Amino acid sequence: MAPETAVGSVRKRIEALRKKIQEHDYRYYVLAQPSISDEEYDGMMRDLIALEREHPELRTQDSPSERVGGQPTKEFPSVTHAVPMLSLANTYDEEEVRDFDRRVQSLLKNEPYRYVCELKVDGIAVSLLYARGLLVRGATRGDGTQGDEITNNLRTIRSIPLRLREHNANVQNVEVRGEVYMTREDFRRMNEERELEGEKTFVNPRNSAAGTLKLQDPKVVAQRPLNFVAYSLRAEKRVLRSHSENLERLRTLGFPVSQQTRVCESLESVIAYWKEWEQRREKLAYDIDGIVVKVDSLLQQERLGSIAKSPRWAIAFKFAARKAQTVLSGIRLQVGRVGTITPVADLQPVFLGGTTVSRATLHNEDYIRELDIRVGDTVIVEKGGDVIPKVSGVVAEKRPSGTRRFAMPHECPECGLRLLRPEGEANYYCENSECPAQVKGRIEHFAHRGAMDIEGLGEAIIEQLTSLGYLKRFADVYDLHRHQTELLNLERWGEKSVQNLLDAIEESKRKPFARVLFALGIRHVGAGVAQTVATHFRSMDGLMDASLEELEAVQGIGPRIAESIFHFFRDKNNRKLVERLREAGLTLQERVSAGTATALTGKRFVLTGSLSSMTRDEAKEKITERGGTVGNSVSRSTDFVVAGEEPGSKYDKAKQLGIKILTEKEFRKLLSL
Ligand code: IVH
Repeated sequence: MAPETAVGSVRKRIEALRKKIQEHDYRYYVLAQPSISDEEYDGMMRDLIALEREHPELRTQDSPSERVGGQPTKEFPSVTHAVPMLSLANTYDEEEVRDFDRRVQSLLKNEPYRYVCELKVDGIAVSLLYARGLLVRGATRGDGTQGDEITNNLRTIRSIPLRLREHNANVQNVEVRGEVYMTREDFRRMNEERELEGEKTFVNPRNSAAGTLKLQDPKVVAQRPLNFVAYSLRAEKRVLRSHSENLERLRTLGFPVSQQTRVCESLESVIAYWKEWEQRREKLAYDIDGIVVKVDSLLQQERLGSIAKSPRWAIAFKFAARKAQTVLSGIRLQVGRVGTITPVADLQPVFLGGTTVSRATLHNEDYIRELDIRVGDTVIVEKGGDVIPKVSGVVAEKRPSGTRRFAMPHECPECGLRLLRPEGEANYYCENSECPAQVKGRIEHFAHRGAMDIEGLGEAIIEQLTSLGYLKRFADVYDLHRHQTELLNLERWGEKSVQNLLDAIEESKRKPFARVLFALGIRHVGAGVAQTVATHFRSMDGLMDASLEELEAVQGIGPRIAESIFHFFRDKNNRKLVERLREAGLTLQERVSAGTATALTGKRFVLTGSLSSMTRDEAKEKITERGGTVGNSVSRSTDFVVAGEEPGSKYDKAKQLGIKILTEKEFRKLLSL
């Protein structure tokens, strides 16, 4: 084959992969109908990156592999919005919405008009410019006239298309506006991870999205779970007549557009929409703080114009914040599993957003001191989108005399030992590893889904077993079978539940090394860090004896994490625990030791059809453990296609290309199972 043709065919493959990935992004983000698994998607992306690495001359700006690029910026350049980004007049009040409607009606001289109602997503407004179909600039709203250019950060958001889907000359140069936001679940998970790693947590999803967009390094932004929803389209040539048509067009251009938008022919249905979402807002995955009402016709919008900084054709109809006042009767300290101390407010019960609230979070010492929250104060309790309510302020006029500024107790409420606040951290810690709250917390962590995944060993059972003395530390889990008779005599326990628990415990022994490492609950060692460390040191022995310098030298491990790991293994009790886990038969090393090539090392696999003895994830885990890789699509560089039941088109493709096809049995043999 002549070299040009070879490059030509690589180009075709690259283009095909890009198109496919783009299509799957569209299915996932816009249609919310993904048709492939995450693994398959990742496989395609890996293939694309590999090909582009081999052929740097074929790289392009709009390739889905190029979402994370650019150097960290010191300062974001300022940009001017060609058309100012207006804000909206706000109201919480039905009467004011009626006034708004009367104004619209009279300005339009009684001609017919209708509204579009949208959810007011609580995020950050951004503007995206596309030139000849390519994303060329992304910016924040700023003061409405000038914003920050944050193109590289916005490019990392996978729901923002890097290239428009439609090739219509009229809509190639456009500005799209919308909201960047974070779902509550992603926010919660991110905060959990941050807390574990000793970083400052964010207050709510909106702040966390705003904080992320301000980050200087797009690589960090790329790891944060940001989403985008579009609500405005402006084309160089105006071809559409209404906002509702614009929203449709946005969708065909490849943007996620809210599914909840409604065209309302009357003000009554606008109000009904507002009432409906006031009730249903909790059911959404993200926070909204009201609805936005817009006149649908673009011509009428133009005629209505704007005053000051807001248009006369739209209004934000907000929901009353779910806030209430109540008395703070006490501040309690809660002890987490790694000894993290969280101050919690005890409140006089108050009805708020559908439930009675008697506890709320106070975050940390600094938060309490900054707001000067005191026991006895009347405080404002707020329920954001979050399930956990928080104390957001103090009603100063209602402060009784004799209150005292909050002072952090010096001792752990559970074990009485001294609390410490490491420099640069917001949290205090109880450093006593025998503290009963920590003991329970550690066992819970050890058994939970992301760690050893012992089904049936939840909070209540752990509480029962620790109070009876059967569980003092997590290694005791593997001695529980010795207490089988005693367990059978316990209240609410039957033969079946005891057997199920013991089976689940037995099963957990097969979890890979990285899981065991994570399960140990070392401070700052989340699942990701555990995997990095496991891959690097390959065995518990190697890790336990690593020096501080060796730990710090591992990529992705900062000094704080290194120190925490180092410290953990200097503790004799911790080493003893590890020995007990070893005796119990847990996996304390990566299954393939470094440098030992197996039949799978460097081999590329593709899976098709379903396997009867393991899930796809398990198969993938087993291949990668042994040094192989798993791709999504069959190509000449594929070494093996594993065909389960009802294999798909990959099977035919493998046959066509003459690639070795393995049955499940052959595959298991290769894995030495
Ligand atoms: S329209 C002139 N639509 O609310 C039109 N805004 O104060 C202005 N927002 O800065 C924007 N959801 O951050 C519009 N469906 C929606 C919105 C929305 C949230 C935010 C946006 C804007 C602010 C308006």
